[in-house]
Amino acid sequence: MKQEMYAKREGFSSSIGVIAAVLGSAVGLGNIWKFPYVTGANGGAAFILVYLLCVALVGLPVMLSELLIGRHTKANAVGAFKALQPRRPWFLVGGAGVLSAFLIMAFYTTVAGWVYAYIFKAAGGMLVSTKPEDTSLAFKTLISGVAEPLFWQMFVLIVIGAIIMAGVTKGIERVTKLLMPLLFLLLLIIDIRSLTLPGAGVGLSFLFKPDFSKITVSVILAALGLAFFKLSVGMGAMITYGSYVDKNENLPKMAIKVALADTLVSLMAGIAIFPAVFAFGFKPDAGPKLLFIIIPTVFNSMPLGRLFMVLFFLLTAIAATGAMLSLLEVPIAYLTEQYQWTRRKATLLTILGIGLLGSTATLSNSLFAKVTVFGKTFFDFFDFATSNVLLPLGGIFIALFVGWQWNHTKVKLEMSNGGQLTNERLADAFIFLVKFIVPVAIALVLLAGLNIIHF
Ligand code: PFF
Repeated sequence: MKQEMYAKREGFSSSIGVIAAVLGSAVGLGNIWKFPYVTGANGGAAFILVYLLCVALVGLPVMLSELLIGRHTKANAVGAFKALQPRRPWFLVGGAGVLSAFLIMAFYTTVAGWVYAYIFKAAGGMLVSTKPEDTSLAFKTLISGVAEPLFWQMFVLIVIGAIIMAGVTKGIERVTKLLMPLLFLLLLIIDIRSLTLPGAGVGLSFLFKPDFSKITVSVILAALGLAFFKLSVGMGAMITYGSYVDKNENLPKMAIKVALADTLVSLMAGIAIFPAVFAFGFKPDAGPKLLFIIIPTVFNSMPLGRLFMVLFFLLTAIAATGAMLSLLEVPIAYLTEQYQWTRRKATLLTILGIGLLGSTATLSNSLFAKVTVFGKTFFDFFDFATSNVLLPLGGIFIALFVGWQWNHTKVKLEMSNGGQLTNERLADAFIFLVKFIVPVAIALVLLAGLNIIHF
């Protein structure tokens, strides 16, 4: 009976497809929109160093834990924990992941909507000024509207809903395989333009010369949260994707490759943006609008700028779409497997739910500007509650599960593809990390960052 159930599951069809999908999940608005503005708001280079440490010591082990759990159980985020530990409430970790997926999607689709809108605005010649006041005003007009940003958010939801309904292989895998190389190339072009702007050096030293006085516990929490968000970990997305991965893939190697490539894309986005920030007299701590005011300014100062601008937003939209597919797949896999809903029904209802919740995030700059939850607008609340609370919490429990609950012999067998790979030492180091370092480090940062304990 079990065998039959597994046989019906779809999966990624090739190694390239797996890497593209997992990297497609990691690379998204997190790299191109969030990484630069969070870095800008937290002081630059020193923040990046803390971020890199968080990726290597915490994000990567959690990513590998999730992939191992997913591939071993071939189940969704909730089903995976139920399969491994039917008698204890570990499945709640998966349940919190499904909730996180909803909350992230709520504000992610807002920003993705802005990006989609910018493709059309750039193409229509509506973003042609190099004056900071003009590009700021154009952005402000878009986000403080009602009908326009809502329209784009719904448009985004329809696009990803259609791809998800097409399935794992024909939908997710096919789309993500096409876009990564293109995005990379385009970022390279903007990097060259940005680096050759007069005064680019100031931006570079902001990015690479650390000033450690800028580091506080809340900065560390922001770096940790960003690492989780970036790598799509702490909420079962990698359990879900791991469940589609073939038993012969080398999971540790794959996780390392994905983390490296993802970090490279973030740094390239930083190099595209910061030299221009300083060259054009913007402030690095402009917040979420940074990308939307800098990129038009940079492109408008180069030949064929309009064409490149359209391409840039198009690729950002595609990268965001790859990431949203993985976010959406978390509840879809859960609903289809745990409740036997059809993929169509699960997709339609999930999209509807996200649309309703997400519209409150979109309207945070207009109708709901004064409505706050814990002192934050809906948009900021969804963002903060996921990156800075739910994902790190999820990370603690996922690490504890692998470190303390799952039989270590089984962990090692899964990690070595049943003994085919020789990675015993790596496995020991990994188990040590998830057993002690990861949970303790996250717990300390979380409690201090939220002001619950003080050093
Ligand atoms: N990693 C994505 C990004 O950086 O844009 C965001 C994300 C995707 C977070 C999938 C969580 C997730 F499950």
